[in-house]
Amino acid sequence: MGQASGIGLISKDQEIVFYDIDRKKLNRLREQGYNTSTDLPKVDKMSEILMISVPTPTIQGQMNLSFVLLVAQNVGKALEGVGEYKLVTLRSTVLPTTTRCRVIPTLMKYSKLQAGQDFGVCFNPEFLTEKNALNDFLKPNRVIIGEFDKKSGDLLQKIYEKFKTKIIRTDLDTAEMIKYASNLFLATKISYFNEIYLICQKLGLDANIVSKAVALDPRIGAYGVHGGRPFGGKCLPKDLAAFTNFVKTLNLNPKLLDAISLINEEIQLHYKKKSMS
Ligand SMILES: NC(=O)c1ccc[n+]([C@@H]2O[C@H](COP(=O)([O-])OP(=O)(O)OC[C@H]3O[C@@H](n4cnc5c(N)ncnc54)[C@H](O)[C@@H]3O)[C@@H](O)[C@H]2O)c1
Repeated sequence: MGQASGIGLISKDQEIVFYDIDRKKLNRLREQGYNTSTDLPKVDKMSEILMISVPTPTIQGQMNLSFVLLVAQNVGKALEGVGEYKLVTLRSTVLPTTTRCRVIPTLMKYSKLQAGQDFGVCFNPEFLTEKNALNDFLKPNRVIIGEFDKKSGDLLQKIYEKFKTKIIRTDLDTAEMIKYASNLFLATKISYFNEIYLICQKLGLDANIVSKAVALDPRIGAYGVHGGRPFGGKCLPKDLAAFTNFVKTLNLNPKLLDAISLINEEIQLHYKKKSMS
């Protein structure tokens, strides 16, 4: 996601320096003519805005924040000596309250600086798909800016000015929630049509004809309507599991989210059996 975003921003006349702990990735980018650096403090010094796009895997149902917090520590340490206002923007998918309660305290602890006064913070979720990463980045349906304060949001908005799309500015927690509400709706839609698929099978009906006809309603649309396959990919399963468990820690009972996951498990078994036969 970071690579597609960086390349996309370059095409919109932004100057970008790529930083990654994976040297092979950086070498590949350098060979393609992109600006790269292996020195985070130098990147911090050179850049007005730092964008963090590291993994947030789900391990045993829990969001693992170790990559994000390690980068926040490193960026914090690097910010300490910079002596200039910088904007730190988290782009990794994280559960609501993470930027405010985990990332900002880490940045402040390691930089010994004050958020808002010495540096700005935004959470800016990404909606691109792995398949079509660059094109999706360049043609977003909306840009969501979760801002610690107005100064942070104003600075981030400047880099999205060339994108002809709606920009929604809100607080950090709401922006984090928007990303999950979007991803989990897509998972819901896929599980719903998988349930329809299983029902059609039982009745001896062609689920494809049903899905095609239903998808023609513009309120429904074509995404995810063809049943028979579980949702996979890097994001939907991990985000569904992490969010469902997070909601349970709030003493809520997310009945629909549990059902989405159960249907996905059922269709996974069905799909495996079908591919083996
Ligand atoms: N892949 C997608 O389609 C997509 C879409 C939207 C959002 N997201 C979210 O974006 C985030 C990143 O996902 P991704 O698919 O791009 O992951 P990825 O694994 O493809 O890329 C993450 C990069 O972070 C680097 N990294 C890890 N630790 C680092 C550190 N300490 N310092 C510097 N670099 C470090 C890794 O080497 C890797 O190159 C996740 O939170 C994911 O949920 C992904």
